[in-house]
Amino acid sequence: MKSPANPSPIRSDPNWWKKTTVYHIYLRSFYDANGDGIGDIQGVIERLDYLADLGYETVWISPFTQSPQRDFGYDISDYLSISAQYGDMPLFEKLVQEIHSRKMKIVFDLVLNHTSDEHDWFKESASSRDNPKADWYIWKDGKGRDGRRPPNNWRAMAGNRAWTYYPGRKQFNYTAFLPFQPDLNYRNPEVKQAMFDVVRFWLYKGVDGFRLDIISAIYEDPELRHNPPSLRLTPSDKALTIFFQNLKNNFLQTESFEFAAELRKVTDEFDNPKRVLIGESHGEEELIRRFCHDNGKRGLDAIFLFKAISTPFKAENYRQLLETFEKHFPPPLVPTLVFANHDRNRVISRLGGNIEKAKLLALFQFTCRGIPFTYYGDEIGMPRVRIPLKQGQDALAMQHRWVPQFLVDRSKEILNRDECRTPMLWDEKPNAGFCSDSVKPWLPLAENFREINVAKQSSDPYSLLNFYRRVIRLRNTTPALNEGQMEIANDICNKKVLAYYRTFGNKRLAVLLNMSESAVKNPVGHDEIAISTHHGAETHRLQPFEGRVVRLQ
Ligand code: GLC
Repeated sequence: MKSPANPSPIRSDPNWWKKTTVYHIYLRSFYDANGDGIGDIQGVIERLDYLADLGYETVWISPFTQSPQRDFGYDISDYLSISAQYGDMPLFEKLVQEIHSRKMKIVFDLVLNHTSDEHDWFKESASSRDNPKADWYIWKDGKGRDGRRPPNNWRAMAGNRAWTYYPGRKQFNYTAFLPFQPDLNYRNPEVKQAMFDVVRFWLYKGVDGFRLDIISAIYEDPELRHNPPSLRLTPSDKALTIFFQNLKNNFLQTESFEFAAELRKVTDEFDNPKRVLIGESHGEEELIRRFCHDNGKRGLDAIFLFKAISTPFKAENYRQLLETFEKHFPPPLVPTLVFANHDRNRVISRLGGNIEKAKLLALFQFTCRGIPFTYYGDEIGMPRVRIPLKQGQDALAMQHRWVPQFLVDRSKEILNRDECRTPMLWDEKPNAGFCSDSVKPWLPLAENFREINVAKQSSDPYSLLNFYRRVIRLRNTTPALNEGQMEIANDICNKKVLAYYRTFGNKRLAVLLNMSESAVKNPVGHDEIAISTHHGAETHRLQPFEGRVVRLQ
């Protein structure tokens, strides 16, 4: 592959992160360079030109430090060394260098909330009630005569009970996710210092920021009060609930927002260039915005807004979504635009395989105010691969093996996260070019990889991939799109059309998205089309599912 120049104009700017575009790599599945059927760091290095050529500026890579891999890296047993299956420290250093030499940024996926139960800290902590690390995790006596009833009713985010009994300590241990991922106790100042040193270690190595895993869970109610009931069984993108419980007391505490401000300070020790903090949290926007700004203090730069994932593909719903984002994240705050990740269904599968809708969604994502995140493979419309729950390698799938498959099949979301983590489809070769044909990829490939792959779409000017390339380039070279003001065009919006204006200086653009299956009259009647999702767009009307950007001035 040639080594293309990234056209993005925004590198040394301290606000680079506001204007950036992020590509999210699930490392195990991106590109296997060492021939074991699992993606690796060398594989990312070899494919960086692909991302630079598309115009992405920032790469977020899923965790690669030492881990028993029960949650594929989100269960860490050593924060300061690299898991051998992905590479080693010199290779990581090379990765940083290769990314920076392309004027790109690297975001490190940092799991502060919990470690693996195989971390030495935890082994020590679990060994007795009076060892030096006894208080590094969250331990509580149980209830009842024999102390075998959990301290309270808390559920973990994965749906399971949040407490596990450890006979060694005759106590319960708290986990916000799965039982092998014990939560660190941030009320212990030693823990905070140890983890802030981890932060410094990676900043010193040159990472440009962090994606903060499950930051919503960093503190719990000190009095361990029971959680109130909720009407919902399954998780929601609107509120933090699961299994008929509102996770009010084990997530999103006041201290969590204060912690964000402390983390900001530590991160700002390394301010040249400016580093970014992006948090993962579910919950209502008015609450989670406090991670970014609380009590007059700056915290994280941005927080994932997952509501977009489950918003129905309708103009009015999207208009409301934008209104909510703008209301709670007005400038100088910046919303995030997230439609998929390594825990959720694939975009194209949610859209019923409709490429026109996928192009429209990409146009929306790269032209409205916010930081767009692309989950690897979504740029070619890589589909969800159905893998029965019982065959799941994903720990969440293993935990939910009891759920009847027919219920899983009916759900819009995935329970077996393997389904959205399958190997990247590079070309038509036997393993879709992800790994050599002499080895079996760690997860099955999408069956239609001969029709859907990077090589094929690269040579088709009207492919989804080439639309991504065009729209990202337009964004990168148009200040109105990457840093301009945004205004919802309420006078134009209707049941079928979503419209907004982007303005920078005297340049003004209108973005028109026909989210319906019928053609509509072009509501601005202007003819200078900067981009359209459709080939041969007509001036006076928008075709079904056509989106376009027009220059007004
Ligand atoms: C986050 C990650 C998910 C992981 C969990 C526990 O939600 O996105 O993949 O399993 O945290 O770390």
